Amino acid sequence: MSSGARRAALVTGAANGIGKAVVKRMLEAGYVVAAMDRDAAALTHSVAGTANRDVVQIVGDAANPEAMAEAVRAIEARFGRLDAAIFNAGIAGVSSPLKDYPIEVFDEVMRVNVHGPWHGIQAVTPLMRAAGSGSIVLVSSINGIRGFGTFAAYAASKHAVMGLAKTAAIDLARHGIRVNSVHPGLVNTAMMQKVEEQVGAPSLEAAHAHFSSFVPLRRYAEPHEIAQVIAFLSSDEASYVTGAGYIVDGGFTTGIPASA
Ligand SMILES: NC(=O)c1ccc[n+]([C@@H]2O[C@H](COP(=O)([O-])OP(=O)(O)OC[C@H]3O[C@@H](n4cnc5c(N)ncnc54)[C@H](O)[C@@H]3O)[C@@H](O)[C@H]2O)c1
Repeated sequence: MSSGARRAALVTGAANGIGKAVVKRMLEAGYVVAAMDRDAAALTHSVAGTANRDVVQIVGDAANPEAMAEAVRAIEARFGRLDAAIFNAGIAGVSSPLKDYPIEVFDEVMRVNVHGPWHGIQAVTPLMRAAGSGSIVLVSSINGIRGFGTFAAYAASKHAVMGLAKTAAIDLARHGIRVNSVHPGLVNTAMMQKVEEQVGAPSLEAAHAHFSSFVPLRRYAEPHEIAQVIAFLSSDEASYVTGAGYIVDGGFTTGIPASA
């Protein structure tokens, strides 16, 4: 069954944080949405209250090629089209000096953060190529453009995401498909809380205040502030934007703020 004139979007990591905000923003923009997450309970909870006919829930591992292929089959069957794919699912790994960083955690960070969008792009492009248009957004990080303390696997994976986005943008331009990356700074989500728990501050509040002090805007972003940029890149408003890396960090990477 085709959704007809309504545009369709796929969002991975849709049950929490930034992904959940992207689902909400895309629905507001009039899309029908395939919301994918490996956490079935959280996914059901996060899409509760949205119009059932507008959302298809896909429970699965967004880094698994079979699961991604199955997701695309579900999208084709339900919506008959795919205009925007947002590969957002990601994990932070652990905080550790490089010499002690557990290789199995490194491998899992690379699997989710890099194999995920890699397989994702391969899975969604046939549908977009058939239409001659589409937008893909990869969620990287400011740690995809610089290092990040004791989170080497995360920074390595997010740099890879940017390289993948830029190269896919070149590869897919001839098919009318745009590919961009988004680089959030500090965002108020469960992932950032897990990072705060691992940095050795006396409390979560102290860690939050410490990190915020490096941001010229002096605060974390809320997930919807990242979702707005992703929605823009997914839309025709961004028709000439491809291969770009959009930094959304309250000025964090611009420089050190003047003291308070
Ligand atoms: N929170 C931040 O400060 C921040 C900053 C920069 C970039 N990011 C990036 O934004 C993205 C979203 O982060 P968030 O803060 O919203 O995280 P989050 O932990 O709040 O939510 C991530 C969601 O992704 C899902 N997920 C994880 N691995 C998955 C997999 N293999 N398959 C399917 N679903 C999976 C989780 O179940 C969860 O629902 C990540 O790629 C992250 O690296 C976050």
